Amino acid sequence: MGEAGAVESFPVINLSYGAGTAAQVGTVHGGLHVSTGKVGGPSTQPRQLPADVAQFTGRAAELRRLDLLGTSAGPSVAVISGLPGIGKSALAVRWAHSVADRFSDGQLFADLGGDEPAAAATTLSAFLRALGVSRPDEWTDVAERAAHLRTLLSGRRVLMVLDNAHSAEQVRPLLPGSDTCAVVVTSRSQLTSVAVQAAAVRITLEPLSMTSASSCFRVRSVAVSRRRRRRRCGSSTGAEGCRWP
Ligand SMILES: Nc1ncnc2c1ncn2[C@@H]1O[C@H](COP(=O)(O)OP(=O)(O)OP(=O)(O)O)[C@@H](O)[C@H]1O
Ligand SMILES: [Mg+2]
Repeated sequence: MGEAGAVESFPVINLSYGAGTAAQVGTVHGGLHVSTGKVGGPSTQPRQLPADVAQFTGRAAELRRLDLLGTSAGPSVAVISGLPGIGKSALAVRWAHSVADRFSDGQLFADLGGDEPAAAATTLSAFLRALGVSRPDEWTDVAERAAHLRTLLSGRRVLMVLDNAHSAEQVRPLLPGSDTCAVVVTSRSQLTSVAVQAAAVRITLEPLSMTSASSCFRVRSVAVSRRRRRRRCGSSTGAEGCRWP
């Protein structure tokens, strides 16, 4: 705004503008306020993955299939479905941690609530905020928020985990438009329409094999008995007298 002469005779001039915003001023009557509104500071690199499952076991074949995701040869979306408690979230989070460094622009995670579904608008706001948008709720329209998310993700290497999805309607507005991103969705439903539309890797989880399940059980039993022992020692004889197996 080097041409201040055009507006200097008016009492209130308030121009706040960010990179990429231009204002061309002719005759101005009264105060002028220009704001780019919703976009805050520089966009951030979110690291939203929850903690990995400490004693994760098995699922080697499924992890290999997921490894194709976001590579030049592979699709951008995976849908992991299966019965309640079968291990969908654990698998998605384990894989996401294993490839996080391939997605240098960040990892987004949202729990979509399962049977108590989170509104797409709420999740969109959370993602936009994580990417540096300060007031995403000013876009009241879901489609507008979704379009802005796609703009921000375009060309960036971002991994998105959409956990416990309830329906395709909930997922669709969240999907990036850019194949530089990868998305893992977990759901008790097959989410067929999303899977077909995105040409997704589809993984239907079966129960863990007997070997993996018993290894998981053994590891957990040891962990539980160690915790118990530590608690007992801490409360009576003191930690110094304890010997762990
Ligand atoms: N491969 C695995 N190795 C070790 N523990 C696992 C494995 N898979 C799942 N678990 C454990 O089993 C429990 C249930 O797993 P998880 O929450 O992933 O199931 P889910 O299919 O996502 O269930 P829901 O449908 O309720 O969301 C968790 O405590 C998780 O840590
Ligand atoms: Mg789950």
